[in-house]
Amino acid sequence: MRTITHIDRMQKVSDDLKKEGKTIGFVPTMGFIHEGHLSLIDIANKNADVTVASLFVNPKQFTPTEDYRCYPRNLARDKKLLKKRGCSIFFYPDVDAMYSKYFKTEVYVRNLSKLLCGVRRKTHFKGVTTVVAKLFNILKPDIAVFGQKDAQQVIILKRMVEDLNFDVKIVIGPIIREDDGLAMSSRNIYLKKKEREEASVIFKSLKEAEKMIHDGERNASRIKKRMRRMISTKKSAAIDYIRIVETKELRSVNEINGEILIAVACFFGKARLIDNIIINL
Ligand SMILES: Nc1ncnc2c1ncn2[C@@H]1O[C@H](COP(=O)(O)OP(=O)(O)OP(=O)(O)O)[C@@H](O)[C@H]1O
Ligand SMILES: [Mg+2]
Repeated sequence: MRTITHIDRMQKVSDDLKKEGKTIGFVPTMGFIHEGHLSLIDIANKNADVTVASLFVNPKQFTPTEDYRCYPRNLARDKKLLKKRGCSIFFYPDVDAMYSKYFKTEVYVRNLSKLLCGVRRKTHFKGVTTVVAKLFNILKPDIAVFGQKDAQQVIILKRMVEDLNFDVKIVIGPIIREDDGLAMSSRNIYLKKKEREEASVIFKSLKEAEKMIHDGERNASRIKKRMRRMISTKKSAAIDYIRIVETKELRSVNEINGEILIAVACFFGKARLIDNIIINL
């Protein structure tokens, strides 16, 4: 695996690969690699000739009160895991190179960025869309692979790609989970023992919602109420939101019909965890 830190070099390497007729599969990450990230590497390997993973802890997607400074990092381990999984290029740019002191341009997907996670994390998605637009311009990938764990991110990035005509195909990988159902996440490292045990209730509440719908329930309020009650039995849980929305505009639905997203964000101690399921009726 080749490590590239300079933006110019990365652009040149991508250009050369394209000239050779090679397709590029791209997996953007913030590092502290886990099986969720590695599953996306597998998908890139399958769908493109060359897999590039980036590691960039993007300051612009952290709101001022969040954990940018203490975000978990382990560069040596990350590189080892990515290499072992068949990633060919590791792009690891510097913050000051990505955002010079004159930096002024931002990409913002209206409305969608304000809802769900955007209520609490007001500038988060603007940071995501801005950095992903930059990375797309640097790497010029044929496909870019993102995880369904971040369901709203996927919806926003697909909107951005379509609206701004980025010549890249977005591919979505399924949510990879721990044995008890907890969605893998770099921030799970923050969980204390009891919090870690209790955190599996998020997925259990989503499965319960799925079962209610399977058994004929169509009223969104009743489903959310049952989920809220389940999660609230856990002492360390502080619910941020439980929402049932349609997947185009992220508008709340009263009745379950068509394609809907059930999304949860919940604090366990200092870790804010998210999870979701999509249901298609
Ligand atoms: N459990 C998972 N299953 C599938 N994809 C995942 C999973 N966790 C993260 N991803 C995806 O990996 C990519 C990089 O995400 P990121 O580096 O932010 O990891 P993360 O685990 O979400 O970290 P954090 O919890 O700090 O946000 C994103 O596309 C994200 O959706
Ligand atoms: Mg993440």
